Amino acid sequence: MKISAPRGTFDILPEEALRWRWLEAAIRRVFDYYGYQEIRTPVFEHTELFQRGIGETTDIVEKEMYTFNDKGGRSLTLRPEGTAPVVRSYVEHKLYSKGGITKLFYMGPMFRQERPQAGRFRQFHQFGVELLGTESPLADAEVITVAVELYKELGLTDLEVLVNSIGCPACRKKYQEDLFSRLSSLQELCESCLRRLEKNPMRILDCKNPRCRELTKDVPAVTDYLCPACRDHLEKTLSFLDKAGIDYRLEPRLVRGFDYYTRTVFEVINAGLGAQNAVCGGGRYDHLVEEIGGPPMPGVGFASGMERLILTLEQQGKFAGFSSAPQVAFAVLDETLAADGFALATRLRREGLTVEACLEVKSLKAQMRAAGKLQAKFVVLLGEDEWKDGQVSVRRMADGEQWRVDREEVCRFIKDLLDRDSSGREQERGSFS
Ligand code: HAM
Repeated sequence: MKISAPRGTFDILPEEALRWRWLEAAIRRVFDYYGYQEIRTPVFEHTELFQRGIGETTDIVEKEMYTFNDKGGRSLTLRPEGTAPVVRSYVEHKLYSKGGITKLFYMGPMFRQERPQAGRFRQFHQFGVELLGTESPLADAEVITVAVELYKELGLTDLEVLVNSIGCPACRKKYQEDLFSRLSSLQELCESCLRRLEKNPMRILDCKNPRCRELTKDVPAVTDYLCPACRDHLEKTLSFLDKAGIDYRLEPRLVRGFDYYTRTVFEVINAGLGAQNAVCGGGRYDHLVEEIGGPPMPGVGFASGMERLILTLEQQGKFAGFSSAPQVAFAVLDETLAADGFALATRLRREGLTVEACLEVKSLKAQMRAAGKLQAKFVVLLGEDEWKDGQVSVRRMADGEQWRVDREEVCRFIKDLLDRDSSGREQERGSFS
């Protein structure tokens, strides 16, 4: 019987991996501009970290975690998200002891046992930032701005930024009570909303069920309940975004599914993705560091789903012209030249060209067909007579033009032609960094 990848997971095959590498490079570049440093944490953690960090009554902790006991009987969980692990590491290594602000970024696989659908997987990839050590609304504005500027750098358009504030625990308490008393008589709410009503009524606003949305369309906005300090924080955050020219929409129904959030929450959506339309979600978490055993230390961050970003990039045609084609393929026409061909290919690679060496000496026709399939720009042909004269042939595949070139000169010759050919074309394999 054939064994396939588990449901909700997928392989990233070579053609696709090229896109991922390009995306990862762009992410690192932008995080460098903004001064975020990379942190890598394990893919599994003690289950308690997520129970305490994300919250016992959230969908993720209640239903979606991959939890198992190891041979020593310890309960471990594959990380469903990156914030709690990064904060755990920040506390464990006392990164706060240097004082001031700590700015971290991460990238890697996350695991949630959700029902797979378009844009929703069980193993998916996130990159994100966590900015710890300040309550300043400038930090909220910066974190939102990094995401938006990154998407701009990727060339994405038609994304919408939604921002809200869910206040601090004090202002939220009154809001939750009022929501409960307004909604508790509504038996027509869906099953999850009836459960949410008991545990965290605010999360009802997050429900996608059209009936629940209709029933709750007139409930007051959480922003009407903000205490003066939280209101001021929201207003400042928004004014900093305005000043920096970041477009957003204030969305009072945006609440998000983690218990750690306080004040600012935000999402970036691509309406073209269908039901799973959020490419990014984030917010402020002023009590999480303490919850995980550190000192009182505010934080704010976001995470972005890489699969959904790749889908968005595909939808918007950003990968047109991407190719894994080598610059040069070798065709060796005689078995006796196999070693020379291999040595010359190695030299060209050392000089920085992407080269497919000839590993099987076949007929000229077969080798040219193979070079065509690879979409190589040039073919270096090694024939007996030319080789004796210290030369090789270089054929440009686009138009079939062919030159005899001194074999010592072949690298410089091809580089000159490539320079003339590809000036201005940035998305080629050679330009990935
Ligand atoms: P989140 O909204 O759960 O937030 O996830 C962030 C992003 O990860 C989503 O907007 C989506 O693009 C992607 N994502 C989530 N689940 C899946 C899935 N099953 N399949 C594919 N993509 C998915 C967090 O994880 C928070 N830790 C964000 C944060 C960081 N808040 C503060 N700092």
